Order: sequence, then structure tokens, then C-alpha cells
Amino acid sequence: MKYNKKTIEDIDVSGKKVLVRCDFNVPQDDDGNITDEGRIVGALPTIKYLKEHNAAVILCSHLGRPKGEFKMKYTLAPVAKRLSELLGCEVKMAADVIGPDADAKTAALKPGEVMLLENVRFHKEEEKNDPEFAKKLASYADIYVNDAFGTAHRAHATTAGVADYLPAVCGFLINKELEIIGGALESPKRPFVAVLGGSKVSDKIGVINNLLEKVDTLIIGGGMAYTFAKAQGGSIGKSLCEDDRLDYAREMIEKAKAKGVKFLLPTDTVVGDEFKPDTPSAVYPTMAIPEDKMGLDIGPETVKAYVEAVKGAGTVIWNGPMGVFEFEKFAVGTKAMAQALAESGAITIIGGGDSAAAVKQLGYGDKMTHISTGGGASLEFMEGLDLPGVACLEDK
Ligand code: 3PG
Repeated sequence: MKYNKKTIEDIDVSGKKVLVRCDFNVPQDDDGNITDEGRIVGALPTIKYLKEHNAAVILCSHLGRPKGEFKMKYTLAPVAKRLSELLGCEVKMAADVIGPDADAKTAALKPGEVMLLENVRFHKEEEKNDPEFAKKLASYADIYVNDAFGTAHRAHATTAGVADYLPAVCGFLINKELEIIGGALESPKRPFVAVLGGSKVSDKIGVINNLLEKVDTLIIGGGMAYTFAKAQGGSIGKSLCEDDRLDYAREMIEKAKAKGVKFLLPTDTVVGDEFKPDTPSAVYPTMAIPEDKMGLDIGPETVKAYVEAVKGAGTVIWNGPMGVFEFEKFAVGTKAMAQALAESGAITIIGGGDSAAAVKQLGYGDKMTHISTGGGASLEFMEGLDLPGVACLEDK
């Protein structure tokens, strides 16, 4: 395994104050209602364990990108409220991060109690990984626990810096993500299939490159498929294309050949006239999309081939939708893949972000082996990059 880090079970937490970094960066609607609480639910096992083992639990997290200033829109108060309901106990909320209220509430916190600091990104020192800021936060606790898998690819004060000043271990969520995704990357049940979608090749460069070393089949869908089609001499009309990635796309196709990896690209495409939900649609070969049309989903022949490719898989990793799934008309490919994975019998791992949202929205959430709480973090992990939020923790 790439990482073998101590967890909260490897350290005595009883009677100690424990600072736990979570990723409570959850989506909210215009009225401030949390629309996907997956990350909050994901943090519960660690919080419950610490509470039950008599620790005083000081939670912290970021929410959104407030750029170092207090903004009401980014308060963690709705998270404290939801956490109180889920834990069945009061989660006290500090009005600040390292100010007088946090000082008083952390000092008064008793074993078995849980509190939440305000959004750590209200301080610009957080993203700068400022040592004084980290030291001040560390002074509130005896132990640091990182359980923010979604933010583990950031070297910030609360995701990495604090570990310089306290004994530092990982929580159950990070441990589970590392075990499941890391396990699939290192010793997958074969055939190992990766399904990559989303709009940009540039977001997935490292991932495609690294996965080609490991998988038996790599399936490409979504907007980035058109860069591959053009790289092979196709006409792609008004479809998304990154012209500066054409050479890279050709290189990856060559690499797949050299490694004996099946590299599947869409053969047909559902096109529209414009990027609108009600635009008239039609199906064309991916290599011959008319000048005035744009590809918005994989076509029926491609769906069939892709569904077939995941059918006998032992492990499937999926990151990125197959089409513009937010538009009902162009959600068919993404829906079909979600269903195919759900029915495959394979170990199915869904990268966070859009693909996780798609799977949940389409009602297949509980049919997958694992839905990662990390978007960028799970991608960087699949690229084989070091995660600063994990690297800083103590080895077993
Ligand atoms: C995420 O949602 O990917 C994480 O919470 C990290 O957020 P960030 O991209 O703003 O650092």
C-alpha cells in the first residue's frame, strides 16, 4: 500500500482534546439547505468513535472559497445544525476560528462533547499554510486527526500544517478511501476497467497516463472524447475540443496499444445544435459530426459497447459523466453506465464530484461499492500523486 498511516484506533484519545479536520464543503441551495450531506455522513464514524472513547472533539472544516474573509454565505452553522441532528447531541458552534469565542469554547469543552469551529478559510492564513495560524489551532488540542479526504490534496494549515505541532493520525473516512481506492489501484480484481468522462482532457491527463499502467480496459466518454476523435482525424463540428492536447491524445492511444490496454472511444454521438436542454438532437458517427452540431452524449451503439465492456469486470473505477447529464435528453449515456455498474457484480468505485452527483441523482447511490467523498483528491490519488493531507500523518 502507498500509505500505512496510524488511525484513531492506534492512539489513546481518552480524556484528550482532539482537533479533527473534516471536509464539510457540502453543496447548498439558495436558501442554505444542504443538498448532498454525503460528506457529513462520511465523517460520522470518526466523530462517534472519538465521542464514545471519551475525547473532547473539536471539529474544523472549510466551506466554499471565501478567500480569507468572513462571508455569511459560507458559515458552517448549517453543518453544525445537521451534525447535531445526526449525532443526537448538541454540536456547539464557535463564532470564530482562532478568536475569543473559539478560545473560550475549546477551553470549556468536556470529554464526550463535540464542537465545530467556524470556516477555517475565513482566514487567509489557512490556504497559505501559515505556521502561526496552525500553531494557534494546535494549542486547542492534544491530538490532530485528519479525516478530510476531499481536501487531502491541499497543503493547508488545517490539512497539513497542524501536523507539525501535534501527534497526527487519520480518521476512518480517510482510511476507508485509501483502502478502497488504493486497493483497487494496487491489486485490483481483474478485469480492471476505468471509465473516464467529463469535459476536459486537461483535467484527466495524469489520471489517464497513470491508469494506462494498471487497467485492462480504459473507456473514454464525455466532452473530452472529441479531442481524441479529432486527434485521429475526425470531424467533430462545434463539439468541445482542446487543440493543445491533440498530441497528448495521440500519445495515449499509442501508449494503450503498446501496453495491450483496450482503449474504447465513442463510435457514435448524440448531437445538438446548441448547448441547451431542448436543442433538437440526432445521432452521428463520432468521427463525422456536422459543422453546425455539437456532441452532447455518447450514442446508442457506444452505450451498448461500453455496457458490454463493464459487464464482466472485476473492478470498475468511474470518474466523469458520459454526457451533459444535467439535460434529461443527454443523460442517457451516463444513466446507462450507472445502471451497468450497479448490475455488474464488480467492485465499483465512483470518483467524487460530478460522477458521484450523477450516480446519486439517478438513484444508483446505494448500488455502488464506494462513492468517494473526494473530487480533486480522488483524481490526484488516482494519478499516483502524493496527498499532503495524508503524507503529513504518522506512519504505523
Ligand atoms: C472539494 O470540494 O473538492 C474540496 O472540498 C476541496 O475544495 P477546494 O477545491 O476549494 O480546495
